[in-house]
Amino acid sequence: MSEQTLSNLMSEDRRFEPPADLAADANVKEEAYDRADSDREAFWGEAAERLDWGQKWDQVLDWSNPPFAKWFVGGTLNASVNCVDRHVEAGNGDKVAIHWVGEPHDDTRDITYAQLKDEVSRAANALTELGVRKGDRVAIYMPMIPEVVVAMLACARLGAPHTVVFGGFSADALASRITDCEAHVVITSDGGYRRGAASALKPAVDEAVEKTGDLVRHVLVVRRTGQDIEWNGREEGGRDVWWHDAVDGASAEHEPEMHDSEHPLYVMYTSGTTGKPKGILHTTGGYLTGTSYTHWAVFDLKDDDVYWCTADVGWVTGHSYMAYGPLANGATQVMYEGTPEKGRWWQIVQDYKVTILYTAPTAIRTFMKQGREIPDGYDMSSLRLLGSVGEPINPEAYVWYREVIGGDRCPVVDTWWQTETGQIMISPLPGVTAGKPGSAMKALPGISADVVDDDAKPVGNGNGGYLVLKEPWPAMLRTLWGDDQRFKDTYWSRWEGLYFAGDGAKLDDDGDIWLLGRVDDVMNVSGHRLSTTEIESALVSHPKVAEAAVVGAADETTGQAVCAFVILRDSAGDGGEDIVEELRKHVAKEIGAIAKPRQIMVVPELPKTRSGKIMRRLLKDVAEHREVGDVTTLADSTVMDLIKTKEGSAP
Ligand code: WTA
Repeated sequence: MSEQTLSNLMSEDRRFEPPADLAADANVKEEAYDRADSDREAFWGEAAERLDWGQKWDQVLDWSNPPFAKWFVGGTLNASVNCVDRHVEAGNGDKVAIHWVGEPHDDTRDITYAQLKDEVSRAANALTELGVRKGDRVAIYMPMIPEVVVAMLACARLGAPHTVVFGGFSADALASRITDCEAHVVITSDGGYRRGAASALKPAVDEAVEKTGDLVRHVLVVRRTGQDIEWNGREEGGRDVWWHDAVDGASAEHEPEMHDSEHPLYVMYTSGTTGKPKGILHTTGGYLTGTSYTHWAVFDLKDDDVYWCTADVGWVTGHSYMAYGPLANGATQVMYEGTPEKGRWWQIVQDYKVTILYTAPTAIRTFMKQGREIPDGYDMSSLRLLGSVGEPINPEAYVWYREVIGGDRCPVVDTWWQTETGQIMISPLPGVTAGKPGSAMKALPGISADVVDDDAKPVGNGNGGYLVLKEPWPAMLRTLWGDDQRFKDTYWSRWEGLYFAGDGAKLDDDGDIWLLGRVDDVMNVSGHRLSTTEIESALVSHPKVAEAAVVGAADETTGQAVCAFVILRDSAGDGGEDIVEELRKHVAKEIGAIAKPRQIMVVPELPKTRSGKIMRRLLKDVAEHREVGDVTTLADSTVMDLIKTKEGSAP
């Protein structure tokens, strides 16, 4: 976001006070900030009491070896027991855990907590039968169907960390994740429904498994679409096992083991500033405390709420605020298989009387473009709270969301956090904070954030800089899978004792935080994290490409869009007529369709400094159709003229 847009933003003076009834009855009141400030550890210790523990912890936090934190030291618990068994034991077995809505109309299922408990127990028994033991990693590559939640909880029950790979990622991306965490079992489905048609998943798993040699021993397959797939059953010495064969007949009794609070719960791969995705490691006690507390506090969750988080389970939002947080809180939630089809979301809100909706600004902007007549045609009076996540929300989208979707009565909570933080870190509290459109406001109770300059000095109100986190928090990542050094280098080496988030931010005159997007080579497209370097590597792996530079250019709907500049090899000539489409497809194959560049420009040169570093800032100017900035540090200042001539002829 440019400085100019920013000052427009910060002159935004609309304020939305919490509704009086919500404020009066809010789960968290103003005093929580002071209480947490006066004794942070006691505050989080109290939050951990929300959970059921086997053995209670001896120490809330061990920070004696920073940046490696241990939370609730000595405590034991089981995440799946906390998400299902205990609700059944408390007499809430008949409460609906998941109202599942398939993409094909009328394809729905309601799953109670009692049913979920049985299904998770069966799946845990089936996985044990397949040889999965505590500590083994299991890869999950599935659409948004209830079995994905069952699979995750069954892994958690066994203490087998899962790694869920977004179903939109390619076979190559899946293979590299399976290899990195050495998963011996993959859980998938034949396919899923996307935009009205069955789309296959299993072929990508076959290809990925092929690439990983002998690593994968079993592929457990849910039949979702019934489409034709290749089958290598165990009878023929193959790896494939149908979920219904393995799980349906398994016993619904499963005695859970209590795992150490620091036992690994899952690994989630996310894009970093280098080509190789990072395996973010989350552990059990702290993660569950952080997600359960924030889900209750930020969404002011009440027993009769119907909550709906629209994120895909393949991203961290689906882990923390669809799977673990809401289930640990015994909430009733909606899970929807499809994408934002016109009107369908509002039909779901109306049918299920959704009270809390949590989604991303990209979706809101898409609905804005479609026009308010569509949502206006539904009864959405059940809604009482709206959340936003994944990217900065511009004031127009915020106000539209509040007025059109929220009937001008629902507070909007703009929640800032990351795969790494595991839990929401910066957000309004709906019963306390007067919302400002565009600002995520301030750190939650128990969280300590600031904005600093290059020398780690706090910038103070009215100024911009880098967002940092100053104190450890329960759901923080513990390390990068198999790479402690990279964990330290990436997040903790810039300034002593501070976690560097990678985001720019500004404090307004009231000291409230405005997030400004990434300051590193990470892009944010439709709320999904993509790495410029990773897409550049994908492009140069194409035989016709000599060099590539990728930038995230501002996009009205998706926040940012991927724009690539490539130099072709001499041997490729002009690349041929379809070169752009050929390269877009290549990126989709290497990483996934979400990483496909919106625009690819074939250029004769790239702007480089004398030391050979590509000046992406200048390319961004071109991609955003701006006057090109200062070119004096370029080795050859005429390069930008060459590129600009190309721009005129770009597709
Ligand atoms: C961005 C998603 C502004 C930010 C939960 C962060 C946001 C990255 C917001 C993490 C927000 C997330 N306002 N920016 N409310 N929420 N971001 O790991 O740049 O997929 O660093 O986690 O998304 O993306 P991730």
